[in-house]
Amino acid sequence: MFSSGLNLHVFFLFVNLRLLRVYRFFGWCYFMYMKQLKVVLAGLGFGAAFASIYDAHPDVGAFGIFDPNADLAKAMAARLGAAKIYKSFGDILNDPSVDAVHLVSPIPRHVEQTLAVLNAGKHCACTVPMATKLEDLETVCRTVKKTGKSYCVMETAVYTTHFFKVQEMLRNGEFGAIQFLRGAHYQDMEFWPDYWQGLPPMFYGTHAIAPLSMLAGSPIVRVRGLGSGTMRSELHKQYGNPFPVETAQLEFANGLKGEVTRSLFETAHDYTEQFTLYGSKKSFEWQQIEDEQPVLHTLEAPRRDPAGKPMRGLPVKTERIPTGNYHTLLPEEIRRFTIKSEDYDETNPQLSLDRDASGGHGGSHPHMVHEFVRSILENRKSRINEINGANIAAAGIAAHESAMKDGEVIGIPDFT
Ligand SMILES: NC(=O)c1ccc[n+]([C@@H]2O[C@H](COP(=O)([O-])OP(=O)(O)OC[C@H]3O[C@@H](n4cnc5c(N)ncnc54)[C@H](O)[C@@H]3O)[C@@H](O)[C@H]2O)c1
Repeated sequence: MFSSGLNLHVFFLFVNLRLLRVYRFFGWCYFMYMKQLKVVLAGLGFGAAFASIYDAHPDVGAFGIFDPNADLAKAMAARLGAAKIYKSFGDILNDPSVDAVHLVSPIPRHVEQTLAVLNAGKHCACTVPMATKLEDLETVCRTVKKTGKSYCVMETAVYTTHFFKVQEMLRNGEFGAIQFLRGAHYQDMEFWPDYWQGLPPMFYGTHAIAPLSMLAGSPIVRVRGLGSGTMRSELHKQYGNPFPVETAQLEFANGLKGEVTRSLFETAHDYTEQFTLYGSKKSFEWQQIEDEQPVLHTLEAPRRDPAGKPMRGLPVKTERIPTGNYHTLLPEEIRRFTIKSEDYDETNPQLSLDRDASGGHGGSHPHMVHEFVRSILENRKSRINEINGANIAAAGIAAHESAMKDGEVIGIPDFT
């Protein structure tokens, strides 16, 4: 009797302890879900585009800024009102109240700062490229694993209205099977900061590669790259890269193939970051001129001759389509940042977008901020995290290596 009563007590104690753990776990999840973060934005050149978005985001309780150029930080703080200015990068790392840091610093600083942020126990978002060396990609992946902190690659090209539109059509099965993918990024980098001068084009192939990788839904496993063209010899010096243009064929793990092209110098083409998806039923083709709308090609039923015999080749309907503004994916407070200007018209977001279609990289900036913030609070990997981010960056690095070896096929390491 005594022993069975004791057993019962032990049993209930055990159950209560288990329940306590379950309550604690759900309590922690709820706390994280509802918590407001303190985020610091480091680098206020391009980074300035994100300041007002963090300031307005409902899940960001406190916001800080840092730039070695103190005047930039002061001017930004004056505009925002409540932003705390950090005097040094070390001060951010040493501030225990900081949850997360968004790096928008020059390319040569990305890896060292990412590692410093993660090792300081803070979540990290980094602008592109994630790194320009394979071993650095591996180190970032290892450090994310070791620290257990979130890492988010702030890749604008997969948060544009074009990308959301194509992703939605893909999910609805409108394209049929994907047959091929193509991406390109043309941008002239004359008079940009020194670290850009002569950069191997595929070291910054990310905007062309990332949408393909996300649409294929599969990692890149092999790359063959070629370099083309000539550029003045002073541009060869910094990176030993002779090519103004690089192109690469990508093989995805699921068997799909893609092609990307990237130019940085001495190549006449308007600035564009674009992708095209060729499907068995429909194809989406990025417009040639940025102000225009993209083109949708649709295969139609066969035409028949008077005898009812199908005529050669299926007819194709081509039309220009709007991409729409996917602002409703965002909290109301930051929807207006899907456009660059203050022209946001809540009653007609599409019109707002049309007024400045290329502003803010196709409306991507608030989506990236929201994804970074929510992935931390929901304790999940962000859309472009250390693993798929490393795969995308590695494909670019391998494409340049391949180009330097006259098209040798290069395998991409597994970062999982
Ligand atoms: N679409 C995109 O995703 C996109 C677009 C533009 C730039 N970028 C990336 O954003 C980054 C910044 O671009 P940018 O044009 O402003 O570059 P930039 O070199 O013109 O300016 C960088 C800013 O960072 C500051 N800075 C310098 N060293 C720093 C440090 N150690 N820590 C923090 N800040 C520092 C500079 O004072 C400057 O204000 C680059 O890495 C670039 O690749 C991405």
